Amino acid sequence: MYWVEIDNYAKQWIKEAGTRIKKSFDQTLTIETKSNANDLVTDMDKDTEQFFISKINETFPEHKILGEEGLGDELEELKGIVWIIDPIDGTMNFVHQQRNFAISVGVYEDGVGKIGLIYDVVHDELYHAIEGNGAYMNDLRLKPLKEVPIEEAVIGLNSTWVIKNKRIDSNLLAPLVKAVRGTRSYGSAAMEMAYVTAGRLDAYITLRLSPWDFAAGLVLIKEVGGVATTLNGKPINLLEQNSVFISKPGFHQAVLKEFLNNGEW
Ligand code: IPD
Ligand code: CA
Ligand code: CA
Ligand code: CA
Repeated sequence: MYWVEIDNYAKQWIKEAGTRIKKSFDQTLTIETKSNANDLVTDMDKDTEQFFISKINETFPEHKILGEEGLGDELEELKGIVWIIDPIDGTMNFVHQQRNFAISVGVYEDGVGKIGLIYDVVHDELYHAIEGNGAYMNDLRLKPLKEVPIEEAVIGLNSTWVIKNKRIDSNLLAPLVKAVRGTRSYGSAAMEMAYVTAGRLDAYITLRLSPWDFAAGLVLIKEVGGVATTLNGKPINLLEQNSVFISKPGFHQAVLKEFLNNGEW
């Protein structure tokens, strides 16, 4: 029952981290930019990552940590037990809205996803799964995903990917946007993956995510029979940036075949 023990610690820490973040709402944040003016990081992102690192090092000194803010280990492989952490996913929402962000924690063993936790702090919704034991939102067991016809699907998609930019010819995703019932953009990849797991979204599509954005979500989605690949239908690499297409099973095959196969993703 080793994973249950790790999961219990992880759940306790993620809740504690959420409480710390909520307390910070009254304080003045230090906001910096990273790769560009819209790529934000705050002292709470770093503080939260450091909080997990201290707890993990103290309790499980042999485990490794891969975190977005780079305060953990530099990893070239996923050997042993590795925690993959996004301390605040949706930092822009955290700064501008004080909601619609999540803490994402995935625990992997030799590259295999064992535990996935995504915590929507403000709504107090903890999505959690241990490999092979189903996925939950708080105490509610999430149901296996049912198929959905393309014309009835509501998909998570950021409008960045429907305008021309260096990664995509703007027309490539337009036919899919037209074919589905609706698109939504929440601004937190982890939350959007949790929403697909819970059936609130039928799919989530993005051209570029990092391991800490999807590590927990991949564990969750597998437990409800969802499918996750790159936009080319290839396996997602846990040590690199990837395009990500996560969805209900039948929808996944149909969209890959009818809408995505010609793209240079
Ligand atoms: C970002 C969010 C956003 C997604 C970006 C991510 P961050 O993560 O998940 O929704 O579109 O690609 O980088 O930087 O807020 O942790
Ligand atoms: Ca970031
Ligand atoms: Ca992120
Ligand atoms: Ca982040």
